[in-house]
Amino acid sequence: MILLGIESSCDDTAAAVVEMTDGARRVLSSVVSSQTAVHALYGGVVPEIASRAHIEAVVPVVTEALSGAGVEPARLDAVGVTFAPGLIGSLLVGVSFAKAFAYSHGLPLVPVNHIKGHAAAAYLTDPALRAPFCALVVSGGHTSLYDVPEPTSYVEIGGTRDDAAGEAFDKVGRVIGLPYPGGAAMDRLAADGFAHGYGDTFVFPSPAIADGTLDWSFSGLKTAAINQIHTLCQKDGLPDGSALPLSVREGIAASFTRAVTDGICAKLAAAVRERAVTRLVLAGGVAANSHLRAAVAALCAREGVDLVVPPPSLCGDNGAMVAAQAYFEALAGHYADTSLNAYASDEYSAFV
Ligand code: KG4
Ligand code: ZN
Repeated sequence: MILLGIESSCDDTAAAVVEMTDGARRVLSSVVSSQTAVHALYGGVVPEIASRAHIEAVVPVVTEALSGAGVEPARLDAVGVTFAPGLIGSLLVGVSFAKAFAYSHGLPLVPVNHIKGHAAAAYLTDPALRAPFCALVVSGGHTSLYDVPEPTSYVEIGGTRDDAAGEAFDKVGRVIGLPYPGGAAMDRLAADGFAHGYGDTFVFPSPAIADGTLDWSFSGLKTAAINQIHTLCQKDGLPDGSALPLSVREGIAASFTRAVTDGICAKLAAAVRERAVTRLVLAGGVAANSHLRAAVAALCAREGVDLVVPPPSLCGDNGAMVAAQAYFEALAGHYADTSLNAYASDEYSAFV
């Protein structure tokens, strides 16, 4: 099957052409138009600006994905599009475009849940990957653990009760003066911090909730790190966290990262043992974090779990992951017609 995948749930307009068969998966093209530079001016995604930028980008991005793959619309077997969850205005641009494109070319339309899409990037990484598996999706909007008995069925077994891990990385990064979004820069700053032995400089609360569930809370950790930065600034009369010495900023980044990775791994280890997990997918934008990848890989090696983690290029939002999940949704007969709507949250979008 040759599929076009369209993604516009947040601040990336993305499209890709992917060939999926039972045994092979090939990304024929993948185009991502990022709006980061625009939103960086405001320190976060401005929904109205995001919607407008998607409108400007969607036609050129899809056109480039098709021409890059050397595939005419007539050769496509289906069009997959992210319809939930995300920013409603952003989602609506991709959904409206996909409906019109599919209708005008007489192609089947396949709605794709963004979280399932993130995990589906793993099929492109390891063509031998088959459900059942356990999926940990860590992104700017989500941190959730799922049982995936079949490729289209996601049962949440744990997750954050407040902020997502990516959101916490971004906020702490902002307070120590890193450009938006801070996640990738925090990754590099923490690496320097670990290399200099600053990984235990600060003791931050664990995001793993100590109550026997598989849930996390990242807001307490985020607030503790931000308070620590403010206290250090006040003590030395500094205007903001960007003025702190590099060694202190490295210490904050490394200690915060260690709290995140330890907390995530604590619940992951509990899930692996309680549920006899043998196969794990780690996905989402924060799965690009080198420290989280290393910590989860070490845990899986210790526990004898097969781990599939997409390369960083497939961790952030992209169209290829949407096309990959659309393949399995299409096999299950999950098509939509032109009445397809977009949904901001999972609750209203028939997640399963
Ligand atoms: O999946 P994604 O692209 O968008 C959402 O669905 O939210 O995830 C974006 C998030 C942002 O918070 C970004 O800072 C974070 O992923 N991120 C990282 C890294 N690369 C991206 N966080 C930590 N370390 C990274 N290397
Ligand atoms: Zn995402």
